[in-house]
Amino acid sequence: MIPVFEADIGEEEILAVADAIRRGEISGSFGESIPRFENAFADYSDCKFGVAVSSGTAALQLAVAALELKSDDEILVGASTNIATALAAYHNNLIPIPVVSERRTWNLDLDIIEDLITPRTRAIIPVHLFGHPVAMDRVCEIARRNNLSVIEDCAESHGATYHGRKTGSFGDMGCFSFYANKIITTGEGGMIVTNKPKLAEKLKLLRNLAFTTPRFRHELAGYNFRMTGYQAAMGIVQCQKIENIIAEKIRVAKTYDRFLRSIRGLQLPAPVNRGRHVYWMYGVVVQPEFGMTRDELQDRLRQADIDTRTFFCPMNLQPVLQKQPGYRQVDCPVAESLWNNGFYLPSSATLSEETIQRIAEEIVRIAATKKTKVTA
Ligand SMILES: Cc1ncc(COP(=O)(O)O)c(C=O)c1O
Repeated sequence: MIPVFEADIGEEEILAVADAIRRGEISGSFGESIPRFENAFADYSDCKFGVAVSSGTAALQLAVAALELKSDDEILVGASTNIATALAAYHNNLIPIPVVSERRTWNLDLDIIEDLITPRTRAIIPVHLFGHPVAMDRVCEIARRNNLSVIEDCAESHGATYHGRKTGSFGDMGCFSFYANKIITTGEGGMIVTNKPKLAEKLKLLRNLAFTTPRFRHELAGYNFRMTGYQAAMGIVQCQKIENIIAEKIRVAKTYDRFLRSIRGLQLPAPVNRGRHVYWMYGVVVQPEFGMTRDELQDRLRQADIDTRTFFCPMNLQPVLQKQPGYRQVDCPVAESLWNNGFYLPSSATLSEETIQRIAEEIVRIAATKKTKVTA
């Protein structure tokens, strides 16, 4: 089976992790690796400060906690995303409000976002879905006009740029994931980047159970969201490789584009105006003209030993969120259609041109057979 993703980890990472363990960087925030990784990744992301944490989910939850909002305040989140984005609000006793997706980019629709703002809205979490950068100048302008904080969910967009600036550097904070399938990985792990020194300080305090002096006496309810030193050591090595990994991701996407663009009824990732898409995963949407459902196409690919994954179940359809007191129903037809008809293809940076060609030719062959009805 060709997997949807394989991590790109070499001997250098293994040696760096072993060295960190030998130096005693096992747990806690001791040692050189965590600050080095924080500085390297923040610098790469055009930010002054980095706060390494245990996952992308923890990064989002901690970033929201640092805003110190009141219970039942609302946070706008891109509808088509990993549940972690909405849970960042949920676990802070805030209400996530899903924002309808755009048909072309699959990111949140900036034309309707202001219709969802109420007097209780306090923040926006745009998600740079699959590595496609959101038009952050518009998000920041809307946020400024409505006095909202901005937390970018960059779990899938390391190194993506908009108008020459990296995602994560536009909002008050940017949250990254270093899970195994992300653009760079530390196994599990995450980071919040920011240009605001006070926020960086607060995030560091909250990450580590809000320890102050005297030790063991606490003014604030913190979290244990610490990353280990040996994970950070792996992150430093991955950081040195990130531009090569992104170049390979772009190569994979361009090769798919070349083979798939003439297939009727298969929507491919939209190109970015004035920015860089990093193609975390190469997503496609099966349209009615394709003549076969997404599920059928996925089945046929599985039979040919090609693994794929569906797009995310949108936040307006999540039972866990519908049961939350204060839940507000918002229809997200485009995100629902993406959930029904979208899926992503194997997208590892290590995929050879021959393998991509084999996958693409399989899709071309299936497209030439087909035909049943497609979910609207
Ligand atoms: C958009 C998005 N946000 C948040 C997360 C959560 O990151 P993690 O798995 O590191 O907790 C993920 C991915 O896993 C994601 O894709």
